[in-house]
Amino acid sequence: MTIISSHQVSINKMKSNLFEGWKIQCDSNTAGYVKFNPKVDGIFKSHVTVDIKIPKQLRGRNIGRIALRKAMKASSYSTFVAHLRKSNTPSKRMLAAVGFQVFNHPKSSQLCMVIIVDPSTRSRGVGG
Ligand SMILES: CC(C)(COP(=O)(O)OP(=O)(O)OC[C@H]1O[C@@H](n2cnc3c(N)ncnc32)[C@H](O)[C@@H]1OP(=O)(O)O)[C@@H](O)C(=O)NCCC(=O)NCCS
Repeated sequence: MTIISSHQVSINKMKSNLFEGWKIQCDSNTAGYVKFNPKVDGIFKSHVTVDIKIPKQLRGRNIGRIALRKAMKASSYSTFVAHLRKSNTPSKRMLAAVGFQVFNHPKSSQLCMVIIVDPSTRSRGVGG
């Protein structure tokens, strides 16, 4: 399994007024997408939920965590929330590697993981 390094992964912004999204490229190959869907609720207030997908044949090479870090750095949001099935170990490991922490959500039976990025440290804080 070839582990990918950061400079091999790039993200290209999709045009949408509904979400912030980027197509992922690894070297010259398309490698899935990462999307942030804006939400407001009583727990996190203004935040985005994370939707990321890497093609099966490219999983487990760090592409997901690199692309997610780059998208978070490019995002205008600070609070990132992921809802996933408790059995989704690859997502949990990828999110933990990026710095997400498990949040005990009072209204969800899914696993909820959260990271809040300090806007003043965004340029260096979440890495690339
Ligand atoms: C979640 C997903 C985006 C991760 O992408 P990725 O490029 O494989 O992510 P990374 O390589 O950065 O990290 C994957 C981690 O899961 C681990 N992993 C991979 N396959 C695994 C498996 N079958 N069982 C357990 N762990 C697994 C890897 O070892 C790695 O963890 P580690 O570095 O601690 O060892 C990808 O698996 C995917 O598209 N899944 C389907 C969609 C989905 O669940 N999206 C998440 C919604 S938030």
